[in-house]
Amino acid sequence: MKIAASIDDLRKIAKRRVPRAFFDYADSGSYSEQTLRANRADLEALILKQRVLVDVSARDLSTTVLGKKLAAPLILAPVGLLGMQHGDGEILAARAANEAGIPFTLSTMSIGSIEHVAEATGKPFWFQLYVIKDRDFSKQLMDRALKAQVDTLVLTVDLQVLGQRHRDVHNGLTVPPEFRIANVIDIATKPAWAWSVLNAKSWTFGNIAGHVPGMESVNSLSGWTQQQFDPALNWKDVEWIKKYWPGKLVIKGILDVDDARRAVELGADGIVVSNHGGRQLDGTSSSIRMLPRVVEAVGKQTEILFDGGIRTGADIERALALGARAVMIGRAYAWGLGALGGPGVAKAIDILKKELSVTMALTGVAKVSEIDGRVIETGR
Ligand SMILES: Cc1cc2nc3c(=O)[nH]c(=O)nc-3n(C[C@H](O)[C@H](O)[C@H](O)COP(=O)(O)O)c2cc1C
Repeated sequence: MKIAASIDDLRKIAKRRVPRAFFDYADSGSYSEQTLRANRADLEALILKQRVLVDVSARDLSTTVLGKKLAAPLILAPVGLLGMQHGDGEILAARAANEAGIPFTLSTMSIGSIEHVAEATGKPFWFQLYVIKDRDFSKQLMDRALKAQVDTLVLTVDLQVLGQRHRDVHNGLTVPPEFRIANVIDIATKPAWAWSVLNAKSWTFGNIAGHVPGMESVNSLSGWTQQQFDPALNWKDVEWIKKYWPGKLVIKGILDVDDARRAVELGADGIVVSNHGGRQLDGTSSSIRMLPRVVEAVGKQTEILFDGGIRTGADIERALALGARAVMIGRAYAWGLGALGGPGVAKAIDILKKELSVTMALTGVAKVSEIDGRVIETGR
């Protein structure tokens, strides 16, 4: 394949270039991947209405999220281990997002640290927080984020315990990769990847290694997560985080109307309707299925973001039509990064923006703010 024309093309290239354990880590969903599939299937089931003879010569993709102008209704979601899709992956993705005029969210489980990204970009970014048993460590992370000009904290609440991805078990996923014979052969056939990772600023969990006592040599993601993530996490913790964090607070991983109401009561500036990209509770509903109900319940009180299964510009329009203010993408840009590094992330963003622009035109919409339920076929 010479030129990537779609997100699916980027996925195919990433599959050739990224060692199998890390490609599979991004590609997989938990258990039988039912929810992973539902995220896609339910988006595709929403039929767009073809409308003609509307002047769509001046199309405007820009919007505002949490008081800031975005060039498109698109945000790079927190994705752990980006630096294992390509060396310095977090920095490259943050730069691509800055250039495109959209936010980048750094994961707690990133390879490049908060400080690496801040130093390399010099621009504000979003930071995603996982609360671990040691609450002091969460405070430290928030302090570090604040110092690094993070303006929006994304608190992820759907990973108190870890859903299993079978392929991670089969591949023995570790960070950095273990030098087992199968890995060595795999990596030897991916020299560009090896070069980029060898030359990167960090090879391990940049936010954690050296900060949590006894965690210097941490390499098993699932082992660490199982030991450190706190199954006791509850709404009271959201209260203290809201008190402690002075910036905007977005709660990610809401899929239920009552949970959405509670998040709003506790002062969330935004919520992300999300099932973690089908990586946590397998068998739960697709994110798009729950979106309209959450919008109906709290859409007037908070900003509603959406993620799960976005692979095309048409998908973005579908989510916006059902009431999302903007969408987050995870795999779409992780594949871009694995395929082509920083330019691959830029390519993924560009593909989605162009597809959205064409979809808007052919559904008779000129501005993002005009996208609503009328673009969806209801059979009436
Ligand atoms: C490889 C990978 C790693 C992820 N790591 C995190 C993470 O560290 N924190 C988090 O809140 N969500 C994480 N997510 C979930 C994403 O933020 C997002 O909810 C999901 O990818 C959206 O679905 P999509 O991949 O279909 O776009 C991860 C997703 C993927 C694919």
